[in-house]
Amino acid sequence: MVTAARIRSLKGKRKISMLTAYDYLTARILEAASIDIILVGDSMGTTVLGYPTTIPVSMDIMVPHVAAVKRGAPHTMVVADMPFLSYGLSEEEAIRNAGRFLKEGNADAIKLEGGREIVPLIEKMVSLGIPVMGHIGLRPQQVLKVGYQIAGKNDKEIEELSEDAKILENAGIFSLVLEDTTEEAARLITDMLSIPTIGIGAGRYTDGQVLVITDMLGYNPEINYKHNKTYVNLYNTIFNAAVQYKEEVEKGLFPAEENVFHQK
Ligand code: KIV
Ligand code: NA
Repeated sequence: MVTAARIRSLKGKRKISMLTAYDYLTARILEAASIDIILVGDSMGTTVLGYPTTIPVSMDIMVPHVAAVKRGAPHTMVVADMPFLSYGLSEEEAIRNAGRFLKEGNADAIKLEGGREIVPLIEKMVSLGIPVMGHIGLRPQQVLKVGYQIAGKNDKEIEELSEDAKILENAGIFSLVLEDTTEEAARLITDMLSIPTIGIGAGRYTDGQVLVITDMLGYNPEINYKHNKTYVNLYNTIFNAAVQYKEEVEKGLFPAEENVFHQK
């Protein structure tokens, strides 16, 4: 078991690596690669399910995937992302939903988007023993209201963002995702906090980095975010395999003798 305390203790020692995963096999690979944290992100809505945003994602969609990821990565910290409106309606419902991630999904922690407005909820969760990861900066669950914008572009925005970060730390979160903030904002917040910051599009000075796995694997050729690095071109790999398979089926080259069962 990897505890939130263990992740917390990495700050200042070495950088933390986090990737998203949504399925058993991918989680197994990430555990074999010693990735520190696997996030079952609500980004699953856009990456796996093909929705235009993360808004349609529900607890019932998330829970089986959290469980699958944990089966693939039993020794890695698995963080489950609370989807839109799974928290915020009432404290009771939010805690019950977080509990589903820990009990049915076997997650090690949960993540919530939000600033000072969700502090009472975070305090309650932490007091009950639920490790909470925060998430500020660009918040995809706010897309209908404000769209997608870089955060921390001027002094005033940086001040608000760093106030939120400090308030969330005081509420008891064990680490904080900073999404699409200026490098200056993320650096200031990272220096200010005693918990690790994990950046995506937040520059070089956060305590850790996170990427969406389908982005960094080049699974979707339409994606070329500035913050992303495409480490392999999985689209081409799968496309070429499918084309070759079709050709071999049509030409009668597959199956070959080695793939065939014979009578005794
Ligand atoms: O859903 C997700 O993948 C996330 C990360 C981008 C932090 O929240
Ligand atoms: Na998310």
